Amino acid sequence: MARLRAVLEDLNSGLGQILLLSGESGIGKTRLLSEARTLARERATWLDARCLSYGSGLLARPFVDMLRGWLELREGEPEIAVRTRLRARFGTLLGPDARETVAFLSRFLSVKVEADAEARFAALPAEALWEAIRRAFQLWIEALAARGPVVVAIDDMQWADPSTRQLAEDLLAVTDSASLLVAVAFRSDPESEAWRFRIGVLSGYPHRATELPVGPLSIPAARELAAALAPPSLIDEVTREGLVLRAEGNPLFLEELFRNVIAMGGPSPRRGWTMSISTRQLLPPSLESLFAAQIDGLPEGPRRLVQTAAAIGRTFPVRVLERLTQSETFVQDLSALLRADLIRETRRYPEPECTFKHGLVQEAAAATLPPPAMRELYGRVGSVFEEVYRGSLEDYLEILAYYFYRSEEQGKALHYLERAAARAIELNANAQAADMLERAAKVAAILEDADAQRRIRAQIDMLGGAGSEPE
Ligand SMILES: Nc1ncnc2c1ncn2[C@@H]1O[C@H](COP(=O)(O)OP(=O)(O)OP(=O)(O)O)[C@@H](O)[C@H]1O
Ligand SMILES: [Mg+2]
Repeated sequence: MARLRAVLEDLNSGLGQILLLSGESGIGKTRLLSEARTLARERATWLDARCLSYGSGLLARPFVDMLRGWLELREGEPEIAVRTRLRARFGTLLGPDARETVAFLSRFLSVKVEADAEARFAALPAEALWEAIRRAFQLWIEALAARGPVVVAIDDMQWADPSTRQLAEDLLAVTDSASLLVAVAFRSDPESEAWRFRIGVLSGYPHRATELPVGPLSIPAARELAAALAPPSLIDEVTREGLVLRAEGNPLFLEELFRNVIAMGGPSPRRGWTMSISTRQLLPPSLESLFAAQIDGLPEGPRRLVQTAAAIGRTFPVRVLERLTQSETFVQDLSALLRADLIRETRRYPEPECTFKHGLVQEAAAATLPPPAMRELYGRVGSVFEEVYRGSLEDYLEILAYYFYRSEEQGKALHYLERAAARAIELNANAQAADMLERAAKVAAILEDADAQRRIRAQIDMLGGAGSEPE
C-alpha cells in the first residue's frame, strides 16, 4: 500500500508511471488494483479492463471494453448511437482533429463509418489499418492525460493476446510525457504476453517502472487477517494457528479455510463449542475441493444457477444468465450466490455483470456437471449470446466460436471461427487469424466438410505468404 501511494502521488504530480503487479493466484493483485482505484478516486480518470481466459483468440478485447466503458455504451446499442457518442465525446476531447481518430476507433469497435471513410479503409492494407487504429488509441489516451492524471489498469494480463500487449506497449511512450499510470496485474508465466510486456517495460522504461511482486502475507499479517475473518469466540487459538500456517500466506486460501471450518462446525448456541485442532482432519486437502464442497452444499436453485454461470465463463453478463435459466426464482438464486460470496457483482454499467470470486470456483462448478450436460449447456450459451447480442455480433465472434466449439454444434463453431479469422485478417492480427484458421481446419475435418477444408487451407497458405503479423 505504501508503494501504491507513492506511485499515485508521483502520478498526481504529473509523472508518468508503470506499475507491474505479479504473483500467484489468490495472493491479492486484483485487491491491490481496487485499493489503488480507491486511492486515486476523484484525482484521476480511471480506465480499466480485464483479460479473459477464453484463450488467445480474443482481439484486443480488454481495450475494446475500455473504450466502450469510457463512451458509456450499453451492450447491443445500435450502431448509429455508437457513432454519435464517438463523435460527441471525441469532438469535445480532440476538437477539429477528431475525425480521423473517430473513424479508426469506430473500426476498432466494429462500427461502420461514413461511406467515404469506408472506401478509404478498403483501400488500406490491413497492416496500415491496424497501425492507424493503434495510433488513434494512443492519441485518445494522450489527450485524456493532457487534461489530468489517467490510470489505465489491466488485470489478468497473463491471458492477454498479442494485440492487447501491443496496445499496452504503445501507452508506455505516453508515460514519458504525460501523467499516465499504466498498471498491470498478472500471474507470473514466462510464456505469456504479460511476461513479454514486463520485459519490454524493464528494458525500455526502467525509469518509469515500479515492479511489485506480491508475495505471501507474513505470519503476523496472516494472523491479523485471521482475526478479522473470525472472532476468537468462534475458532479456538490452536485451530486458528493451524489454519494460518496451512494457508501459507495466501489470503484467498486463508479466507476459504476459515469459511469452510465455520460452515462445517459453526458455533452452535446449543452445544456452545468452539472448534479445536481435532477437527483438522475434516479439512479437505485443496482449495479446489473446498469450493466443490461449498457448491455441493448449496440448495437446488442456486446450485443449478452456479453451474449454468460456469458455462458462460469467469465473468458473465447477468442478462445472459437470466435468459439461459428462465427460472422464476432467478433473482433469489442469484442473490443466494452473491451472499455465499461465490460470485461478485463486478459492474453495473453498461450492463450488470458478475464474476466468480475465483477461477477455481468456476472450474469447480463446471466440474460438477457431466460432460454431455456441459456440451448441451455450451450450445445454449452460444445461442443466447447470438440472440442477446444480435446487434453487435462482430464483437462476439471469438466468444461464439468458443462456445459452439465446446458444444455439439460444430457447424456453428466453424462459421464463427471463419468470421473471426476474417476480422483478425482485416486488423492485420495475422497470428490470431492463423490460430483461428487452424482451429477452423480441425472443425472442418471433424465435420468432413471438404469444401471448407480447401477454403481454409488456401487462407492459411495465403497468410503464411503475407508474413506481416504484428511483431
Ligand atoms: N492484503 C490483504 N488483506 C486482506 N485480504 C486480502 C489481501 N490481499 C488479498 N485479500 C483477499 O484475498 C482474496 C484474493 O485476492 P485477489 O482476488 O486480489 O487475488 P488475485 O491475486 O487477484 O488472484 P487471481 O490471480 O486468481 O486473480 C480476495 O478476497 C481479497 O480481498
Ligand atoms: Mg485477480
